[in-house]
Amino acid sequence: MQTKIIAVSGKGGVGKTTISAATVRILTEQYPEKRILAIDADPAVGLSTALGVNIVKTLDDIRKEIVEKTVSGEAREAVDLLNEARFHIFDAMAENGSFAFLAIGRPETAGCYCGVNAYLKEVIAALADEFDYVVIDGEAGIEQINRRVMEKVTHLLLVSDQSKKGISVLRTIRSLSSELVHPDRTGAILNRVADQSLNAFVDLGDIELLATIPPDEEQLQNDVLGRSVFDLPSDSPLLCGVREALNTMQYI
Ligand SMILES: Nc1ncnc2c1ncn2[C@@H]1O[C@H](COP(=O)(O)OP(=O)(O)O)[C@@H](O)[C@H]1O
Ligand SMILES: [Mg+2]
Repeated sequence: MQTKIIAVSGKGGVGKTTISAATVRILTEQYPEKRILAIDADPAVGLSTALGVNIVKTLDDIRKEIVEKTVSGEAREAVDLLNEARFHIFDAMAENGSFAFLAIGRPETAGCYCGVNAYLKEVIAALADEFDYVVIDGEAGIEQINRRVMEKVTHLLLVSDQSKKGISVLRTIRSLSSELVHPDRTGAILNRVADQSLNAFVDLGDIELLATIPPDEEQLQNDVLGRSVFDLPSDSPLLCGVREALNTMQYI
């Protein structure tokens, strides 16, 4: 089976991390025998909390260690990084049981994520073969699409609220990704929709609407209590909506 790699993308604050975490939970329940990797590719972090995992080491930590250890060129670093990253990922997976987890971290150097994004792209390419499913919680906006970090992505899941601003980000990502990523399937989730009738004013262009998710009371509670998506009832509106979207785009 070709590795199915889904990237969750959209404006900040719309539910990307929550929906990425829900995707991981759904995969672990539906395919307990499959190898699943969750990647937090957002420097703003959050996927570990949503999944209830502890971060031991981030991609940026590993990169820094290697940069400190070696003065030779980029190529060497990338190879070392991949070996180390592999080691840490499988370590993390052993601890967790049902899925592996990798976070990009918060690269501080001069406010530029380009370096770690370049590594991330290599890591995705190298690790893809070792897993059946990869779930990437993307950075808000278009940067990682622009830098082709998401090159290997097979399924692009766009998330927005009903706002014009959120939808316009989706349309920009959609047109950039069809030039730079070529995913097999692209579709959108409208999240935290209190009034479905307003969807009539939402213009997604040629983007397929996969599911509409209402504000989920249980998720609000989860937030307050600092709980993970694994604490949601399996028939919660959030999990049902994400399941529907993943089914429609033939990810699961
Ligand atoms: N359908 C929903 N119902 C209730 N709360 C939600 C829903 N989707 C997301 N949230 C909450 O909204 C906040 C922002 O979501 P998050 O996934 O962190 O967004 P992003 O990753 O896009 O910045 C979080 O506190 C999350 O728990
Ligand atoms: Mg997030």
